[in-house]
Amino acid sequence: MPESPDRPAEPAARRRTFAIISHPDAGKTTLTEKLLLYGGAIHLAGSVKARRAARHATSDWMALEQQRGISVTSSVLQFEYLGYQVNLLDTPGHADFSEDTYRTLIAADSAVMLLDNRRGVEARTRQLYDVCKLRRMPIFTFVNKCDRPGGHSLELISDVEADLGLGIYPVTWPIHTSTGFVGVADRRRRTVLLFGKGADHGATLVATQRIPLDDPALLSALDADTVATLRDELDLLDHAGHAWDEAAVLDGTLSPMFFGSALSNFGVEPFLHDFLEYAPGPLPRSAVPRDVQPDDPEFTGFVFKIQANMDPKHRDRIAFLRVCSGHFLAGMTVTLARTGKTLRLAQPQQFLARERVEVDEAWPGDVIGIHDRGTLRVSDSLSLRGDVVFSGIPRFAPQYFARVILSDPLRRKHLDTGLRQLAEEGAVQVFYQESSAGPVPIVGAVGLLQFDVLLFRLDNEYRVPARLEALPFKLARWVRGSEAAIDALVEGRSRLRLFDAKGSSILLFEDEWALRHSLEKAADGLEFLEVAP
Ligand code: G4P
Repeated sequence: MPESPDRPAEPAARRRTFAIISHPDAGKTTLTEKLLLYGGAIHLAGSVKARRAARHATSDWMALEQQRGISVTSSVLQFEYLGYQVNLLDTPGHADFSEDTYRTLIAADSAVMLLDNRRGVEARTRQLYDVCKLRRMPIFTFVNKCDRPGGHSLELISDVEADLGLGIYPVTWPIHTSTGFVGVADRRRRTVLLFGKGADHGATLVATQRIPLDDPALLSALDADTVATLRDELDLLDHAGHAWDEAAVLDGTLSPMFFGSALSNFGVEPFLHDFLEYAPGPLPRSAVPRDVQPDDPEFTGFVFKIQANMDPKHRDRIAFLRVCSGHFLAGMTVTLARTGKTLRLAQPQQFLARERVEVDEAWPGDVIGIHDRGTLRVSDSLSLRGDVVFSGIPRFAPQYFARVILSDPLRRKHLDTGLRQLAEEGAVQVFYQESSAGPVPIVGAVGLLQFDVLLFRLDNEYRVPARLEALPFKLARWVRGSEAAIDALVEGRSRLRLFDAKGSSILLFEDEWALRHSLEKAADGLEFLEVAP
């Protein structure tokens, strides 16, 4: 349904564009599904997983995706709730964790950090949190699986704070009785929410009873010990915890925390409600010649992800475009800042509960999929006149490295072309190692699946059969400084020096120890960067 105003301020303010960051198995799929359930986009939970499985059986997506039975790429889910237009950017998390996961975070305006109540902050969460921190993005925390006994919530909070250097403000607080997890206290509204156990294992919305904290009726709903413990804990939080500070939430230094169980729907609705209220709408984006405000009337946007080969017969690709300002209309002609050429954005798509639909228009905060035949690249800026350039998507240091071994050495030129194009598209990072026989290509990735995709595409699109020889390096830093000082660091087998396409030096390390040792003995003036210069 087209939205009436032609100025973007009002529809933009109703957008909430976010991503979930978590470690595998914390419950991201389950929570996503429950958000869709509460948002009315699905009516029975359990269908997303089922549809995902069904889609793989009939999908015409790339063969690799079918073979592995996983989703190589992520999509964007849209639904309306309480007058908000919610755009949930799905971040690939399991074997499909890749640079796309990082890039998706750049397109979001806030993030939901999902934690398992027994595990707290895990490796993958920390990695993704670092990307959010770089952008000072607001982070909302959902502590999941509270239906199972976990550690004490106060300990969890101090662990998260110490681990991430992030303040935590619990907005809700879990209530456990001898029968288990029964509800949460809403601290800001001084109310207790008690959830009814449904008989359908969380497939439908959960019944909720609301009782003000100081209402004597609380003592008939909960036993006296539980009420006393709850009051003590809430007092402690009020006196010893952080005060609510909206500015700190918006600059990403204070995270509102919510407790619940995505599986049983407990605490999902209060979380969604407050998250939408406190999370920011589309944020200003840094660009040249000036930052772009979401209520600027002229259309601008940038490409944050390219999904290749959805239809291998046509070599079709979908470029995911984040709208940053203005009013996007299907069929609009825009200018690509990198080349100055115009292109018509026909048949844009949006995604509703994993179904693709064509859209007529989009507003700041929205993400649309554009059919592309190889014109667009990750980080490309689009605008009416091509006079706005967004400050690009950072390239993060890869964690896996491999040497490319050609099956047929005569295909070297084609290999170089393939690697250059795939690197430009953002499918993989390419580096070169100097050798007496010339530069040797080394590929780098954030997730191992990127390598499988690379080999598949080299073979299918460039007719370059190749294999990879894994290198034992796990950490990398771009290094800036004098040649002599960099060379002095590269001795022994636990380090390797490579160059990226721009000629910048990158050092690879086998482990934390090798990295730390280099940092300690590095000459003054050497800079180590986790993001490409
Ligand atoms: P992910 O996408 O983050 O990897 O997690 P996913 O939602 O697939 O959940 C991982 C496992 O955790 C699943 O169990 C899921 O049912 C369970 N889970 C999710 N939320 C909750 C919760 O609130 N409480 C409890 N107790 N468990 C939860 P599984 O046995 O691996 O899969 P399944 O057979 O249930 O699909």
